[in-house]
This record gives sequence, C-alpha cells and structure tokens, in this order.
Amino acid sequence: MIKRIFLLLFFVLVISQFLRPDKNQGSYDSIATFEAAAEAPVEVKTILQSNCYDCHSNTTRYPWFMEVSPITHWMSYQIDEGKEHFNVSEWDSYTDKQKDHKLEEFIEMIEKKEMPLKPYTWIHGELSGQDAETLVNWAKVVRSGIGKTEETPQTKEGDSLPIKESDTTAIEEVTAEE
Ligand code: HEC
Repeated sequence: MIKRIFLLLFFVLVISQFLRPDKNQGSYDSIATFEAAAEAPVEVKTILQSNCYDCHSNTTRYPWFMEVSPITHWMSYQIDEGKEHFNVSEWDSYTDKQKDHKLEEFIEMIEKKEMPLKPYTWIHGELSGQDAETLVNWAKVVRSGIGKTEETPQTKEGDSLPIKESDTTAIEEVTAEE
C-alpha cells in the first residue's frame, strides 16, 4: 500500500514538472521608474533586489530550483498574492494616499519580520538587522516627501478636485467667444 502511495506521489511530481505556471518576467523599466520616483540609493536597490522584488514587482529572477515543481507552483502563487498587495512596478499608478499606506505597511512588515516571506528566506537568507534598518529609514524619508515634490495635482479616479468659481467662468468665457 505505502509503496503504491509513493509511486503515485512520484508520478504526480513528474507530471507536475510539465505543468509550468506562467513566468513573471516583465521588463526592468517599471522597477527603474519606481526606484527613480522613490529616490532609492544604491544600497536600498540592492537589498530590495535580493529580498523583495521577486514577489513585489513584474520581474522575478528564476534560478534553476525555481523551475522545479512544487517550488515553482508555490512561488507563482506567492508572486500573484504579493503583487496584489504591493507591486513596485505599478508604483506610478498608486495615488499619494496609497503610496503612503503601502510604505506604512512596508515598514511594519519589516519591523515585525513578516517579510521577506518565510520559506523564501530558507533559500535566500533572512534580512540582516542592518539591511532592515536601512530599508525602514529610507521608507520613512520617502513617506515624509510624498505629495511634496509633485508639481501637477493628482487627477486619478476618486480624487475629486474642488472646482473654483473662477474656473467655470473662464470656461464659459471661452465657449462664449466661439
Ligand atoms: C516569496 C514572496 C515574497 C517575498 C520575497 C516578499 N514578500 Fe511581501 N508579500 C508576499 C505576499 C504573498 C504578501 C501578501 C500576503 C501577506 O500579507 O502575507 C505580501 C505582502 C507584503 C506587503 C503588503 C502587506 C499588506 O498588509 O498589504 C508589503 C508592504 C510587503 N509584502 C513588503 C515586502 C518587503 C519589503 C519584502 C522584502 C524585504 C517582501 N515583502 C518580500 C510575498 C513576498
């Protein structure tokens, strides 16, 4: 009986090697956009690259063991989940309020040692205390600067800008001239 179960498991494992999930391999440009917008220094970029981007950007690195089932299926699921909560490749599309909130969670996740996600660190190693501090300090600086460097006001859906009376009269004047 036990022998049969093992045989079956082995068979499933072999078959699953052929059922490959889609890879998360977008261009690095979106990450570069985030890094520029958030003014990430080189050391911060390096730490994020080796600990976070695999699950929180559109670009995952795929060393050979990441191609092996069931690791590849587990990773694929975590990448989907991770990106849904926080995706640096979509940084530009977040409103200021969202950016601030993501960074607040970013700090919390690191301080509580919840990120990087557990089994991932078995292979990639834990975040060192010093690296954690570097990330948290940087995130605090980015948070304090949000909204201050933007020149154009955000006009994303859901952000209603108050319309001044002078604006509407100006529009009326223009249309009246035609
Ligand atoms: C192996 C994949 C993986 C890695 C690596 C990883 N994360 Fe995550 N992360 C997730 C998943 C999955 C979630 C969503 C579920 C959860 O909150 O546990 C998440 C959620 C988050 C969130 C949002 C939390 C919330 O409440 O919405 C932040 C912020 C975050 N991670 C930051 C980081 C940082 C910073 C790193 C690197 C130091 C990192 N993550 C590394 C998988 C990962």
